[in-house]
Order: sequence, then structure tokens, then C-alpha cells
Amino acid sequence: MGGKTPLFVFILWSIPIGVIRAGVPPFPLTQTTARPKRPENLTPDEKVRILSERGSPVAAVLQFIENIACLQPNASCRRTSLDEFSSQGFDWRQSNKFDNFEKQMKSAVKTANVLNHYFLTAPNDTEIDPLFFYSLVKANVESDPSLSSSSIVLAGDSGDFFVPFAYRGNDGKIKSRNSAGWLLDRWSGNDWFWVLENGNYSELFEQVGNGSDLVVTTEDGYWSAPFIDCNITTNWHVTYGVPFFTRTVDELYFKGVVSVSMPITDVDINQCDGESYLSAFSSSHHCDHSSTQCVPISNRGFRRGAYRCYCKPNFYPASGEVHRRKKDFLEGEFIERTYVESVLSGQSTFIHNFHCLPCRVGCEMCIGDEPCYVEYNLLLRSIVLCFQSFCSTLVVILIVVVFVLRKKRVFFQLYVGNA
Ligand SMILES: *[C@@H]1O[C@H](CO)[C@@H](O)[C@H](O)[C@H]1NC(C)=O
Ligand SMILES: *[C@@H]1O[C@H](CO)[C@@H](O)[C@H](O)[C@H]1NC(C)=O
Ligand SMILES: *[C@@H]1O[C@H](CO)[C@@H](O)[C@H](O)[C@H]1NC(C)=O
Ligand SMILES: *[C@@H]1O[C@H](CO)[C@@H](O)[C@H](O)[C@H]1NC(C)=O
Ligand SMILES: *[C@@H]1O[C@H](CO)[C@@H](O)[C@H](O)[C@H]1NC(C)=O
Repeated sequence: MGGKTPLFVFILWSIPIGVIRAGVPPFPLTQTTARPKRPENLTPDEKVRILSERGSPVAAVLQFIENIACLQPNASCRRTSLDEFSSQGFDWRQSNKFDNFEKQMKSAVKTANVLNHYFLTAPNDTEIDPLFFYSLVKANVESDPSLSSSSIVLAGDSGDFFVPFAYRGNDGKIKSRNSAGWLLDRWSGNDWFWVLENGNYSELFEQVGNGSDLVVTTEDGYWSAPFIDCNITTNWHVTYGVPFFTRTVDELYFKGVVSVSMPITDVDINQCDGESYLSAFSSSHHCDHSSTQCVPISNRGFRRGAYRCYCKPNFYPASGEVHRRKKDFLEGEFIERTYVESVLSGQSTFIHNFHCLPCRVGCEMCIGDEPCYVEYNLLLRSIVLCFQSFCSTLVVILIVVVFVLRKKRVFFQLYVGNA
């Protein structure tokens, strides 16, 4: 007993400390010493910066996407890429699934394999006809309406580049040009070329050593993060690149990249839990986890808040925002905006506008706190059950007694009396 007392005292003493710690805001208090700007006076870029510092990297990226979507149509285009957020903890590439773009990936892979065959069998590259490469990229864009552009980057032996580039113009016509100048300008929107140029292809080359052809697959390619390149369009795009190779007499080496680009303006951002195409945004919704569930909405495009919070089964909407709007759900767009405002105004925790309360016992669905079935009264039921069992038992006992005594002549005396 004596040994347990200090432990008990320690537990009692540590509870208040834990409570105090839990209340400390997650960002340094020194920031609030300068008088904070009111949220509505912040510039769009300041909002992104503050969200990144206090909220989360995903919230900052979503705000950034929202800023660009809300730009005036006349505003000057800003070249940008979501890769710029990777230093702030937004990992765009983590287990993203690009299965939806299988068709587009295959057209790049096919072109890359045409070039593999060409360069690995041609004696040397003295006889390249530029028209051949222009035809390939043009055919890529022509044969897939979802592609906005396609290019082949050919690295020359002397460090120069030839970049046939085909794109769909505003009038729907497909145009082509040599875009070596700006397409290879080093920035994160075209990191696909520089990443693939520095790739390690020793496993692929082993294939050729074994006597088979060098064949690239969709796995050998690389996806850029969503970017806006003002040269062609002002919409969000992604680019997929696949390398191709050539050889000297005894050595295989990197020759260039085939790329295809497509707009992702129509791709939905799913912020709910579970599998999704852009998994970097998964589970970033702000529905109340304990009583509501997040349901994604489709066809909202590359925008924030494409979800609704509904009550979980066996829960009903508590009074507040939802009652005021006479709906049984809350729009994600509204929740996201409220969340951003609460972070910008320095609140350390986000108060949910929408939460639900559990239905009464026995209800599968309910719209309020009223009982929807007769509630089971356990005491009353037990009393009735006891009485019923008691009666049943009594009947069984009676059956047994009657059976055992069936030969006894109950009326014997009576007969005797009559005789
Ligand atoms: C946008 O451009 C149009 C004409 O091109 C002009 O009438 C309008 O005032 C501009 N709006 C802004 C906000 O600059
Ligand atoms: C290319 O091949 C031709 C003959 O097929 C040869 O004369 C020329 O030297 C080769 N060029 C290179 C760079 O190997
Ligand atoms: C390339 O990858 C192989 C294994 O796949 C490894 O043995 C080799 O060291 C790597 N080369 C470089 C330069 O990283
Ligand atoms: C090439 O052959 C070696 C042994 O002959 C084998 O270990 C290796 O897996 C083969 N590589 C490929 C890509 O088939
Ligand atoms: C493409 O954009 C870069 C800068 O972003 C600019 O220097 C270049 O002139 C542009 N090229 C074309 C064809 O618009």
C-alpha cells in the first residue's frame, strides 16, 4: 500500500498539467504579439502562407487552388506548380493513382517504344528527319481529344535539344512547333524531363543484355505535379513523360522523353476518406468525425470543398446551421471557408458548425430526439417474463403430477359409498 501512494499522487498531479498542455495553441504565441490583420484584409497569398504555418499544408494548397480559380478573368496569368508546396510538407506524389489516365499514358509509352526501336536499330542519328518527330507528336494529340499537347524532347550529343511540340489551339486546330527554348526552362512544371534524364535504367538495360528488345512500360514514366504554364493555357494541367534510349556500339544511354499533357480542370478533388485518384487530398475534409460522415460530390472539377457532411446512421442533425437552412447536410464549400476563417483569425481549434446527436435507443433513423419505437422497459419486461416462466414451470409440474398419479383412484371412496 505504501508503495502505491506516490504513484497515485503522481497521477493526480499530472492530470492538470496534461489539461494545461492540451490547451496550448500549436503555433508560437510570439506571432500574436504583432496585431494580426483581420482575415478579410489579408491578400490571397498571405492566406496561403498563414494556412501553411498554422493549418495544414493541404489546406494551404487548397486555398492556393481556390485563389487561382477566383482570379479575375483579366488578371495576368501566373506560372505555377503544386510542387512548390513540397518543401512545406505537401507530398503530391504519395501513392497517387493515375489509373484514370491509363489511355493517355499508353499513347506516350507507345510513341516511346517506336523511338526505342528506331534508335536502337538505326546505325547512328545522322539520318533523322524532323518531320518524322513532328508527325508522331501531332498524331498523339489528334488521336486523343483529352490530350492538350504532346512533345518529344531529343537530347543531341552536344547538349542541345530538339523539341517537336504539338498542341491544340484555342480554335481546336492542332499546331506544332519547335519549343526547345521554353519547354525545357528548368522549373517544377517540367521537372519530368530532368527527373527522367537522371533516372537509373540499369534494370531496363539488363533486359537488352538478355537478348530481348528494350520496351518501356507505364511504370517507367513520371507524372508532374499539377501546373499552370501560361504559354499555352491558363488551366491546371499535368504532364506524363516516358524515356526512350539509343546506343553506341557497346553502350545504351538516355536519348530523350516523350510527354503528353492534359488538363485536370475537370478532375474532382475528393477530400473524403478512402481511396481516391488524387490521394494527396484524401481525408482533408472538415466534417465532424464523431457524428457526421463525408460524402464526395462529383463534377465540381479541380476545386475545394466538393463534399457534403451528412449525419452518420443513427444520428440526427443537432440544431444550428443546418436547421436554419432546412437541410440535412452541410456543404463542404461552406465548411472549408469557415475552417479557413477560423485559422486565419487565430483560433486554435475549429468549432464545427454541424454536428449530429445520437438517435434514441432502437431507432434506425430519426429526425429528432423523439423516441421512434416503443422503448423497451427492461424492468417491466423482466417482471412479465418472470411471471410467464413461473406459470410455464407450474404447468410442467402439474403435467408430471397428473402423470404420476394417473392410476390413483381419486373417486374410489365415492364408488364404495354408492355400493
Ligand atoms: C476586363 O476586361 C474587359 C475587357 O477586356 C474590361 O471591360 C473589364 O473592365 C476588365 N475588368 C477588370 C476587372 O479589369
Ligand atoms: C554514322 O554512320 C555513317 C555510315 O553509316 C558513318 O559514316 C558516320 O561516321 C556515323 N556517324 C557517327 C556519329 O557515328
Ligand atoms: C541503379 O540501380 C541498381 C539496382 O537496380 C543499383 O545496383 C545501382 O547502383 C544504381 N545505380 C546508380 C547510379 O544509382
Ligand atoms: C537476364 O538473365 C539473367 C540470367 O540469365 C536473369 O537473372 C535476369 O533476371 C534476366 N533479366 C531479365 C530482365 O529478364
Ligand atoms: C513562354 O513563357 C516564357 C516565360 O514563362 C517566355 O519567356 C516565353 O517567351 C514564352 N514563349 C511563348 C512562345 O509564348
